[in-house]
Amino acid sequence: MEQGLTLEGKRILLIIGGGIAAYKSLDLIRRLRERGAIVRAVLTAAGKQFVTPLSVASLTGNPVHEDLFCLTEEIEMGHIELSRSADLLVVAPATADLLAKAAAGIANDLASTILLATDKRVLMAPAMNVRMWHHPATVRNVAQLREDGLLFVGPSDGEMACGEYGPGRMSEPMEILTSIAAALQPTSQVLAGRRVIVTSGPTHEPIDPVRYIANRSSGRQGHAIAAAAAQAGANVTLVTGPVSIPDPVGVSVVRVETAKEMLAAVKASLPADIFIGAAAVADWGIEDPVAGKIKKERGSGPPVLALVENPDILAEVSRPGEGRPSLVVGFAAETGNLIGHALSKLQRKGCDLIVANDVGPGTGVMGGSKNTVHLISSDQQEAWPLLDKGEVARRLIQRFAGMLGK
Ligand code: CTP
Repeated sequence: MEQGLTLEGKRILLIIGGGIAAYKSLDLIRRLRERGAIVRAVLTAAGKQFVTPLSVASLTGNPVHEDLFCLTEEIEMGHIELSRSADLLVVAPATADLLAKAAAGIANDLASTILLATDKRVLMAPAMNVRMWHHPATVRNVAQLREDGLLFVGPSDGEMACGEYGPGRMSEPMEILTSIAAALQPTSQVLAGRRVIVTSGPTHEPIDPVRYIANRSSGRQGHAIAAAAAQAGANVTLVTGPVSIPDPVGVSVVRVETAKEMLAAVKASLPADIFIGAAAVADWGIEDPVAGKIKKERGSGPPVLALVENPDILAEVSRPGEGRPSLVVGFAAETGNLIGHALSKLQRKGCDLIVANDVGPGTGVMGGSKNTVHLISSDQQEAWPLLDKGEVARRLIQRFAGMLGK
């Protein structure tokens, strides 16, 4: 993060949960205030076992909020007002318990009530034992919270206070600060009045009525981009192949199956200011899908499937002409020679920018919640760190808006 980053006048409500990482939150408060942020803190009962209200109050320069039913606190600032008067809520450490309560909508103490009552964005910085982080219940809760639009930073890998090793350590204060700065950005309506088309998900190419060729794309990155564009004020059409994730809020969704259908839907949605081809479009379809189910006929062996190349949607949209969007962005999903392949795709398809990502086995990118992307244009290459797909989306949208403005 740039040292000069300012958070002047930004109001942060920091909820400190009960974990050993709470001591890092004291440093976070200091760094936030150094950058001009106004910090109020809520300390849970468990959090109080790790840091004292006095240290939190001294560092924030504000009274610490601890109790849902505290009369003096309610008179000074009620819990609903507390939850709404901030620009951003940050939960650090976000314990397994706080995540579970937030995911289930439980409101039985001040912290969980604020999380349920707020109309502001919430950034979670989880910290817990590695087994707790990997427990199906936590995995479920985190997935739910991400779907609900909450933001996450970390946890990172490393040795834990309990002596075990793995993901579960709370991110360092500087990392949390970077995410706070990013989370405070995207509410700006940088794409107000703009039209954006996004393709997302895989395509399914039928072999016969019951079988198809597909790929592992989940649609998470494309859907997150559509959501971020809508949040930034754009009029968004999302053309999606078959996925099992929910529709993003505030977006018109067109559902398709095949690459041909996707092309037709994109053409019907044009014109647009920005086209973003995040779909993993199948390169080949079956030449002649069979009308009835192909049967296993004794002695005749497996059927031979003749493939034909699908239309290249990105290349078609990129073609110079009157209806071409001002900005055409493609993705490159690669398992090796990332930059080389991305550069050749940029030229071959004629788009303005390629967002390249390594989807090799072991990266967890395809179908996962995180992504490491490289931005490749004819005059620039930029590597971004490993980020949540939602965060990648928000940063991309800010970038695209900037490119449109040029
Ligand atoms: N794309 C497309 N239509 C296709 C194939 C790909 O619009 N028929 C778009 C994708 O949405 C993505 C970009 O092209 O934005 C690159 O997709 P990718 O699958 O990485 O590249 P391919 O064109 O399939 O090239 P290769 O098979 O050599 O990797």
